Amino acid sequence: MHWLLSGALSVEKLTVKIPDLPPSLDGVRLVQLSDLHYDGLRLSNQMLEKAIAICNGAEADLIVLTGDYVTDDPSPIYQLVKHLKNLQATGGIYAVLGNHDVYYQHSQTVITDAFTNIGIQVLWNEIAYPLGQDLAIVGLADYWSGEFKPAQVMQLVDEAIPRIVLSHNPDTAEFLQKWRVDLQLSGHTHGSQIVIPGVGPLVVYYNKFTRKINRKVRKYIPFLRANCGKVVRHWEWAQGFHTIGTNQLYVNRGLGTYPPGRLFCPPEVTIITLVTSM
Ligand SMILES: [Fe+2]
Repeated sequence: MHWLLSGALSVEKLTVKIPDLPPSLDGVRLVQLSDLHYDGLRLSNQMLEKAIAICNGAEADLIVLTGDYVTDDPSPIYQLVKHLKNLQATGGIYAVLGNHDVYYQHSQTVITDAFTNIGIQVLWNEIAYPLGQDLAIVGLADYWSGEFKPAQVMQLVDEAIPRIVLSHNPDTAEFLQKWRVDLQLSGHTHGSQIVIPGVGPLVVYYNKFTRKINRKVRKYIPFLRANCGKVVRHWEWAQGFHTIGTNQLYVNRGLGTYPPGRLFCPPEVTIITLVTSM
C-alpha cells in the first residue's frame, strides 16, 4: 500500500490508570501493534520496519499484538516473522489472533507455530503472568471463531488481580462487561480508515445510505457491495480510548490498510503506560 493511501505512521501515547496495580508495576510500558495484514498489498516493508523500530525505541516491558497478521492465505506469515523476530521487550511478546488469522482451517496452526518459533506467545483463551502474579494478561479467541468463550478463562483470574485483556474485535467489550477488565486492547476496525474530522467514521453514513438502496441493485454497484455493518457493530469504538461501564477499552487503528485507503486515520503504534490507581 502506497504511503499516499495509508498516510504516515503515527505514534499514540496514553497513560491508563489501573486499579490495584502494585507500586512495583507503576509505570509499566506496553506497546501495541495490530492488523498488519501482511500480504504484499496492505502493508509495506518500510512501514513495518519503521513500526518495529518505534516499538524497540519505546523500551517496552511488554509488546502486545492484537490480530490480523495476514489477510486470507496464511503463508505470508513466514516472511512477516523474519521482521517481527527483531521485536524486543523485557517481559516478552504476546499475541491474540484475529478473524483473518483463522480464515482457513489451517491458518490458526500456521500462524501460531510461526510465532512460537520466534518466541511470540499466542494466547487463545489463555492467561499469562509475564510481569509476575500481580498483573494478568488474558488473551481471548477471536469473537467470530466460534471459540470466544470468555467465561471459561475470566473466572480463572483472581478477582483482586488487575488484568489486561487482548481481544481482536472491540465489539467484545459489550459482552465483557460481565467481568472486571482493567484495560481491553483491540484492533480490527482499522480506525474505520476514513474519518470526517469533527463528525466521525464515514462508514456510519455509508451504511445508512446503502441500506436505502435495494440489495439486488446494490450488488451491481462497485463501492456499494461491501457490508461494512458486518465488520463491527460499535463503530463508535472504532479507535482510541473508551470507558464502558467500569471497564476500559483502547482500540488501535492498525498498520495495514484496505482499499480505498485512509483519510484522517493514520496507521498506528500505541505506547501505553500503566499507572497505579488506588
Ligand atoms: Fe483487520
